[in-house]
Amino acid sequence: MSEFEPKIVGFLCNWCSYAGADLAGVSRIQYPPNIRVVRVMCSGRIDPIIPLEVLMKGADGVLVLGCHPGDCHYVEGNLNEEKKINIAKKLLALTGLEPERLKLEWVSASEGQRFAKLVTEFTERIRKLGPSLARKNPDIMLNLQAAKNAAASFRLRVMVGRERELTEKSNVYEEKIPQEEFDSLLNEIVEAEYVRHKIHLLTRNKPLSVKDLAEAISMKPADVLREIVNMRRKNMISVDYIEDQTPFYKALEIE
Ligand code: FES
Repeated sequence: MSEFEPKIVGFLCNWCSYAGADLAGVSRIQYPPNIRVVRVMCSGRIDPIIPLEVLMKGADGVLVLGCHPGDCHYVEGNLNEEKKINIAKKLLALTGLEPERLKLEWVSASEGQRFAKLVTEFTERIRKLGPSLARKNPDIMLNLQAAKNAAASFRLRVMVGRERELTEKSNVYEEKIPQEEFDSLLNEIVEAEYVRHKIHLLTRNKPLSVKDLAEAISMKPADVLREIVNMRRKNMISVDYIEDQTPFYKALEIE
């Protein structure tokens, strides 16, 4: 059997990491040819949806490389990217794919050697994990779609966009949210958004009862019902019909 060759997509910021990769090339530093490079102006351009989408399209791993903290051409794009990758990893962990398939690192324009080392290590990590099952497993594909939809939700976008402001800078009352408090709130929201979007996808083609959904997503019926109540308030789902006093729910189009 031929050895598995990981397909890796690398997003490299134009000002540091891409120049670092270029230096590795002109200096003839060896690194595995498994990486396909996409040049972006700043690592901060990589929305949490993008790595999830790339994994759905068949990549085995995604590497995002940006300038070292303090060196970002757009001041804080790389620091904001840390928060975005954090959310994408949390979502990835819920899908059944390993969050280790996604990695963020810093490479400067003078670090050709470091670029080659990171690509080599990441390729080996993905080789050990094996091929991504996403394209072969419809359940994982559905989970990735739910994760992608969750990443695009208003609540998660607000959490990503305001994390640094809420945890690092004080508000007008000189208050900051402790990082642990923010993290536990974030975990709750990530999970709730993921479950809601999974329920939404499952009920798109066929109306389902709370019991059906609880079985499909291995949750307690009471917890599923709680999410459905929230989804009804947000116009994500409605009762399609009632049979033997059991309501069957169908997804509504999300605007
Ligand atoms: Fe390189 Fe922002 S310009 S990370």
